[in-house]
Amino acid sequence: NIKGVVFDMDGVLTETSKAHFEAWRDLSNKLGFNIPDTVGDQVRGISRLESLEIVLSYDAKKRAFTDAEKTSLTDDKNAIYLEKIKAYSKRDLAPGTLELLKYLQKKEIRIALASASRNASFLLKAMEIDSYFDGVVDPSSIKNGKPAPDIFTKAVALLGLPAEKCLGVEDAQAGIESIRSAGLIPVGIGPLEKCQYRFDTLNDFYQALLLNS
Ligand code: G6P
Ligand code: MG
Repeated sequence: NIKGVVFDMDGVLTETSKAHFEAWRDLSNKLGFNIPDTVGDQVRGISRLESLEIVLSYDAKKRAFTDAEKTSLTDDKNAIYLEKIKAYSKRDLAPGTLELLKYLQKKEIRIALASASRNASFLLKAMEIDSYFDGVVDPSSIKNGKPAPDIFTKAVALLGLPAEKCLGVEDAQAGIESIRSAGLIPVGIGPLEKCQYRFDTLNDFYQALLLNS
């Protein structure tokens, strides 16, 4: 008796997490240092500015940047990122995404997006799935990012549903914490802890739903 599903986007509906990480790596190289692969998981679900702070913690020179410089660095990162995703289309959807969205729609389960990315609306349109969403949270309207509950709380409010009737689907541990504290049922995609359900891929989640219907 699930009434709604709230999706994260990056790393769930599409594998943009790699592009985010590579953009941060390109930026760090421009600044004269390198970031380890582990930063890829560290920045999952984390806002642009907070991600920058994580990246800068690997700067051997420990430079202190002003707020204006940080804004310009996040703008640089975003320009690099946009270049990497500029040709994104429905071919870049994670396998099973379209089938899953169609299945939920047929079952009259409402669908929302809770992405921290300010590029989410662009990507939903580019990948031609925007019409499936009954609600898309504007991340700039959210005060506290993941792991705080705010974004998932806003998403279920947009759907007009009680949180406990909704699944929250995430690839980031910070996202799972956000889902749990907002009171939704946590579904993890990837190697995550504290999930009610956990799958290796979104398609595995879809297959499990089919088997249980
Ligand atoms: C998602 C990604 C993060 C990214 C954040 C902000 O949560 O998982 O890696 O930092 O969105 O994205 P943006 O596109 O606004 O820089
Ligand atoms: Mg994610």
